Amino acid sequence: MWWVYFQGFILVAAAGRESYERIAYFWHITDIHFNPHHGDAKKGCGRSEYDSVSSTRNQRRSMGKYGDYTCDAPWELIESASKTMMNRQNDNVDFVLWTGDALSHNNAKKLHENVKLQLLQNLTDLLMKTFSSQFVFPALGHDDPMAKKELGKMWSRWLPTDSMHTFAKGGYYMIDRKMLRLQIIVLNTNLMRRGDNDEEATEQWRWLHTVLEKFQLDRKTVYLVGHMPPGSHERQRGFPQAHAAHLVYTDYHNRKYLELVRKFADIIVGQFFGHLHSDTFRVIYGERGRPVSWALLAPSITPKRSSEGANNPGLRIYKFDKDTGQVLDYTQYYLDLSQANSKSKGEANWSIEYTFSSYYGISEITPNTLHQLADKLTAVNHNTFFDRYYTANSVKLYSNPHQSCDANCAHNHYCAITRVDYEEFAHCLKTAASALASSSFLVPVPNLSLIVLISILVIIKV
Ligand SMILES: *[C@@H]1O[C@H](CO)[C@@H](O)[C@H](O)[C@H]1NC(C)=O
Ligand SMILES: *[C@@H]1O[C@H](CO)[C@@H](O)[C@H](O)[C@H]1NC(C)=O
Ligand SMILES: [Zn+2]
Repeated sequence: MWWVYFQGFILVAAAGRESYERIAYFWHITDIHFNPHHGDAKKGCGRSEYDSVSSTRNQRRSMGKYGDYTCDAPWELIESASKTMMNRQNDNVDFVLWTGDALSHNNAKKLHENVKLQLLQNLTDLLMKTFSSQFVFPALGHDDPMAKKELGKMWSRWLPTDSMHTFAKGGYYMIDRKMLRLQIIVLNTNLMRRGDNDEEATEQWRWLHTVLEKFQLDRKTVYLVGHMPPGSHERQRGFPQAHAAHLVYTDYHNRKYLELVRKFADIIVGQFFGHLHSDTFRVIYGERGRPVSWALLAPSITPKRSSEGANNPGLRIYKFDKDTGQVLDYTQYYLDLSQANSKSKGEANWSIEYTFSSYYGISEITPNTLHQLADKLTAVNHNTFFDRYYTANSVKLYSNPHQSCDANCAHNHYCAITRVDYEEFAHCLKTAASALASSSFLVPVPNLSLIVLISILVIIKV
């Protein structure tokens, strides 16, 4: 009799072991925007015009140890981020996505290419130390050095020979994970700003199409990874002003991207981008309006205020099925910058901002569930979902939409999330928030799952 139990025990143990190994994690870090001149009053951020709000010299604030909402990231902030990731080393971290813009905007313009490469080397060394047994997959941003050969050399420990070849040529590559279904494709989104017939851009499209076709035949799944996301900025009202217009996909490349995602939606199990410095997402629809794919946009490590506002520094860790690539959940980490700076001992305490599943009451990340979440953001009255989304959008810096995000602002977010195509986005913006209000979204009939969610929240609060 006992051996029946014993065999049962072994079976259960084996099943548990297998699911443990299949569930793994990967970090997504982006937009570090390293500012090496921290605290140097004459250079970089900390220039004499640094605090432009103060009129007199002695009103100028000094910068905190971990940086400032008007400046790019100092080394101390980046080091504390790496310590936070190091502390989760036991979590079966499989790889790291590092989606570009490693250097400060100011440096990117002014510094000599060799100096930029040295600074990038400093960051690369730090990440190698932090992830001594994992691979980091870097994507190029527009504020990164352009010397692709040198960068390839710098990252040769992470990039296999095949990947190195296309990287050195065009700044894009794929990671062929032979024993696994999930493949990783890293795009050079800088090419999405080029002209329609640009040779390098055309070459990237051709390569991407070939690779996706092959993976589809082989029944593989893929992640698409890059710096700049397709579509519009959810925090920017309407269309980009001239100064920012060069930091988006051109209409041609945007359409082309959407076309490809629709065509290969059955094997694309995730799209990961940075660039906007905000925490948001995109839903991509098929020809007949069915949600077919999604992109998740991770917030930046730099807290620097842009015309769209500042944010707290963020780090994200995804939970996924290592074989199929199916994304199961993610946890967003953040540093409350003003709190970190105010501590006398000065230890930066990164903490969990939220975990997707419990924050939004959604148990899986699919085109459908994200489509439903986007719809919930449009409810007009007392909208817990929009409040939560809006708080996360700036990594918990601005948390009160009633003060800083009116109906038009909320509508802008909704349109950017659900209309990646520029023409559709423009059309969506014209549909006034009031028109939305008269549709079915106005009277949210409380359904069972919402009641369950609220009960759970109440229980957690208690
Ligand atoms: C970057 O690394 C170089 C060489 O190791 C070092 O001299 C320099 O101080 C580092 N710079 C920063 C800003 O950490
Ligand atoms: C860090 O923050 C967490 C959550 O906000 C808090 O529980 C913890 O006590 C803090 N730790 C330190 C050392 O301040
Ligand atoms: Zn960028």
